[in-house]
Amino acid sequence: MFDNLPAYTPDPILGLIDSFRSDPRDFKIDLGVGVYKDQRGVTPILHCVKTAEKLLLDAETTKTYLGSGGNADYTRLLKKLLLGDEIHEAMAPKIATFQTLGGTGALRLAGELLRAAAPQSKIWIGVPGWPNHSAVFAGAGLAVEKYVHCAPKAQEIDFSEVLRAVNRAAPGDAFLIHACCHNPTGIDFSRSQIDALMDALRARNVVPVVDCAYAGFGDGFEADTFVARRALSEFDEAIVCFSCSKNFGIYRERVGLIAVKPRAVDTVKNVILGLSAFARCDYSQPANHGAAIVATVLGSPELKAQWLDELDEMRTAIQRKRQRLSELRVNTPVLKAVSSQRGFFSLLPIESEVCARLREEFGIYMTSDARINVLGVLDSQETYLAQCLSHALG
Ligand code: LMR
Repeated sequence: MFDNLPAYTPDPILGLIDSFRSDPRDFKIDLGVGVYKDQRGVTPILHCVKTAEKLLLDAETTKTYLGSGGNADYTRLLKKLLLGDEIHEAMAPKIATFQTLGGTGALRLAGELLRAAAPQSKIWIGVPGWPNHSAVFAGAGLAVEKYVHCAPKAQEIDFSEVLRAVNRAAPGDAFLIHACCHNPTGIDFSRSQIDALMDALRARNVVPVVDCAYAGFGDGFEADTFVARRALSEFDEAIVCFSCSKNFGIYRERVGLIAVKPRAVDTVKNVILGLSAFARCDYSQPANHGAAIVATVLGSPELKAQWLDELDEMRTAIQRKRQRLSELRVNTPVLKAVSSQRGFFSLLPIESEVCARLREEFGIYMTSDARINVLGVLDSQETYLAQCLSHALG
């Protein structure tokens, strides 16, 4: 029977990890998956995380099940961090939160919740976007509608198309928004665009679903949670999917959070029961380690301060790298806009054939739509990258 399976292809992003690792060339550059890398090309464990892990190793007394809701300290402390003190104080009981398997796990539960609550509704997703968004929502049984967020290779958002998409959405549809550090373009909404988008969504009674996977890497944690906080505080109904993978540097621990605001506070309990029911079918219960790390860091004023400093250092390193890349001497202005973009990614205005050539001839790996993780280039590799780009772009 398995010969009847449809033909599968490797994931466009995760597949690059394997291809890069199996490339025998000594000189190669991995601009693929979005992870932080230091000047040695290493994705380090943050100092605050190492300390938390040591504390946990000594303090842990049991490995019994956590229960479907996960680590209660994690959910409580992360909810407060995500909402900020003021909104938390005013609205915490109105917002359901639930531990998830990374940001992707939160998106999947969001899809399942939307599908169960409103089976006819669609989710609107801008392209270019993170390719897995549509797969995750469609896999949860939700209809996905795409619209053009920015023209291919354009270096700015086509905001009139964004608003047009909102106006085409039906009341009760959901609208996906990248909270910050847009994946793959690195181009974020301006504050006035956010105002206009929020107004349009509210006027159409469309539910914002905010993917907050890179908080802290754009303009700092507070600024980067602005859209998520506005959605949860200003809308009658909203969802935020939060990831700790990147900002705590605990990618492989798979820990995230879904925050859901239902219209009525009495529904909060039922939302959590619904999320528990979906999780029970998907993976039964979450793992503890990543959540316990985050809870330990956020529960200690010293470790929390250290985490915020380390997050700032990572953000500064990204900005420094963006500046350096934009100043590289390439025969076309292909890297010029990189310095004004945010987060790990930029989408270079080059064709997929050029991406293939860069990979095959020069060992430079990026997704076929020309998304790069800017931190994939070490300082010592910048000149090589510039030369290869000039060569490939002729
Ligand atoms: C990325 O876009 O590179 C990250 O979000 C990792 C992933 O799961 O795709």
